[in-house]
Amino acid sequence: MVSKIVFLFILVTQVSSFKFCPKCGNMDVPYPLSTGDNCGDPRYKIYCNNNVLEFMSAQGIFYKILNISPWTSKLVILPPIIQENTCYSSDLLQGGLRLDEELPFNISTRNTVMLFNCSDNILSSPLNCSSSSFCRQFEDVGEGASGCKGTLCCHFLKDASMTSHRIRVRLGGCTAYTSVVNINPNEPVDSWNYGIELQWKPPF
Ligand SMILES: *[C@@H]1O[C@H](CO)[C@@H](O)[C@H](O)[C@H]1NC(C)=O
Ligand SMILES: *[C@@H]1O[C@H](CO)[C@@H](O)[C@H](O)[C@H]1NC(C)=O
Ligand SMILES: *[C@@H]1O[C@H](CO)[C@@H](O)[C@H](O)[C@H]1NC(C)=O
Repeated sequence: MVSKIVFLFILVTQVSSFKFCPKCGNMDVPYPLSTGDNCGDPRYKIYCNNNVLEFMSAQGIFYKILNISPWTSKLVILPPIIQENTCYSSDLLQGGLRLDEELPFNISTRNTVMLFNCSDNILSSPLNCSSSSFCRQFEDVGEGASGCKGTLCCHFLKDASMTSHRIRVRLGGCTAYTSVVNINPNEPVDSWNYGIELQWKPPF
């Protein structure tokens, strides 16, 4: 009897440790996300670096994961820092965010992406750089955005004219960006949720 219980216990712990990864800091790592070789589904690799959960882009840049919604297969990563007093994002040199198209993640359609310090030739494309666009409000209030004041900016509402795998910045195009998830333009800027929402394909 005792050995049966012990056997069952070992079986249960083996099955659950095979599937679920341990917490990272105070965050759960829901299936299929995987922080190690023997948990989750290895195709859904994320990283637990010094107790901080991170997502790695195709260029090998780590972005902090802010939250995960296993029921909707979504996670939110932190957009790069816009550097103080200049209007560059920290991932400018790598060309912005690019996801590996071989991996089962893409950029969700609930992001409002704001691009800053765009060159004039960007303006020939159908973007909204009007004085009422969201990025003007962000420049006035948003953290770290002061360096972008007065630069040309553009925003994309909900994935319009963006690919599902990248947000591009470069010299001669736009040099900085940020993103708000599920924006409510009627709410004050400081209640917006900054982040880039990614979505993963269900594993079956
Ligand atoms: C905007 O980008 C250009 C290069 O494309 C750079 O020379 C300029 O300093 C940037 N502006 C700000 C405010 O950082
Ligand atoms: C640009 O965005 C503002 C704010 O959302 C909106 O009021 C305006 O109609 C937009 N203009 C164009 C040309 O899409
Ligand atoms: C992103 O992936 C999801 C889940 O596989 C899919 O439903 C959606 O159509 C994709 N979005 C784009 C823009 O490719």
